[in-house]
Amino acid sequence: RTYRVGTFIGSLSSTSINRTLAKALMRVAPDDLEFTEIPIGNLPLYSPDFDDAYPPEATALKEAIAASDAVLFVTPEYNRSIPGALKNAIDWASRPWGQNSFDHIPAAVIGASPGQIGTAVAQQSLRAVLSFCNARQMTAPEGYITFKPEVYGDDGSIADEGTEQFLTEFMAEFRDYMERVLTVLPR
Ligand code: FNR
Repeated sequence: RTYRVGTFIGSLSSTSINRTLAKALMRVAPDDLEFTEIPIGNLPLYSPDFDDAYPPEATALKEAIAASDAVLFVTPEYNRSIPGALKNAIDWASRPWGQNSFDHIPAAVIGASPGQIGTAVAQQSLRAVLSFCNARQMTAPEGYITFKPEVYGDDGSIADEGTEQFLTEFMAEFRDYMERVLTVLPR
């Protein structure tokens, strides 16, 4: 079988280093993973006023998660937390009450920043949110990536052996983790 992985890129930047990292992750991922990006940039700001009638963009978001076996978050750190656009998307997906799209979904978290902290603080924040949303999170390995532009190609290529090995192992572990979760909690 193949595993469908819905990918959230936490950045709306046209030159996002996290999108570049996501391309690298897809390139080294096991062959039985299929990736679909779940867009977040077209969503209005969430309000409970929408709960009775979600707009098409938000319905599409929930359908895309429902069509995924697992979700991968590749996100920058903004002011020591996650970007508002990503939080907004998670809020949409978690509602209306009783229709939380993340319930029991296998999830992995990774991110890149130019600095040494490598989005570690944002990932703690994201993990707290995903815990409340009852996602099944891979807890190890963690992926705190200090982005070096010379290492990553636009086509997903990785010009550093250690980085390539680390990202390959990260995706292999995520594949095995989702397989184990889906054995008990099929989607
Ligand atoms: C940042 N940046 C940043 N970096 C970091 O390591 N910790 C942080 O808390 C922040 N805070 C922050 C806030 C805001 C509003 C911006 C715009 C940027 C820098 C950030 O890591 C850098 O811009 C990355 O390139 C963002 O990732 P993308 O958008 O390129 O994927």
